[in-house]
Amino acid sequence: MAVGGYHRLDRFIAANSKWSRRDVRLLLGQRRLWVNGAPATDINQLVGPFDRIELDGQLLQDLQPIYLALHKPAGIVSATSDAEHRTVLDLLRESLAVDQQPLSAVELQQLHIVGRLDKQSTGLLLLTNDSRWSASLMAPESKVSKVYLVTLENPVSQDYVAAFAAGMYFPFEDITTQPARLEILSEHQVRVTLTEGRYHQIKRMFGRFRNPVLRLHRIAIGDWQLDGLPEGQWRRIQP
Ligand code: URA
Repeated sequence: MAVGGYHRLDRFIAANSKWSRRDVRLLLGQRRLWVNGAPATDINQLVGPFDRIELDGQLLQDLQPIYLALHKPAGIVSATSDAEHRTVLDLLRESLAVDQQPLSAVELQQLHIVGRLDKQSTGLLLLTNDSRWSASLMAPESKVSKVYLVTLENPVSQDYVAAFAAGMYFPFEDITTQPARLEILSEHQVRVTLTEGRYHQIKRMFGRFRNPVLRLHRIAIGDWQLDGLPEGQWRRIQP
């Protein structure tokens, strides 16, 4: 079974070459199958998306992991394609990284978004081709914090702090939100730290107080911050 993009070597070969699973033992015996620069020895070996795999000197797979931080402007949708609106992928396609290192068309095609932002929300968005990394960041049990600056139409009070910390029941999903931290910065501005990412979570939580969100800006996801990245620009990061 494939777990997080990992496959047994014999299954990978059957799916990606003219050889069947039964042939793989023979290929190993004849040292024709190489993984990460060394002859493979075990058909049960698990290979992942970033292992370099060669058969008879031909590359079957050679993918490099990509990790990006983007400062998303308002008005751009967190999607890889959209018939009507400009997407974050369009933005990456049209702009160079802050270090001027471009992404190739092939690299762009591989990317997916780690935790979306609504169209009008701004701030830190992570993108990758490493689904294990994105799954571990987004898994509720990982409790990775996401920090938002929120500007509200109406003044906030201390009641909000307790309500966010207690969690709110969302009948549509039948869940209670994880304890969230709300810090009051001024009458109309707060910092909210979530450890999960439910659909429109922040807007819905302030909706309980009938207090519309005017501006929502994400400043951090786990250890990653915007760190002065200008709006509309992106950089490669180390996971
Ligand atoms: N919560 C929202 O409501 N919107 C976002 O973009 C992110 C979190």
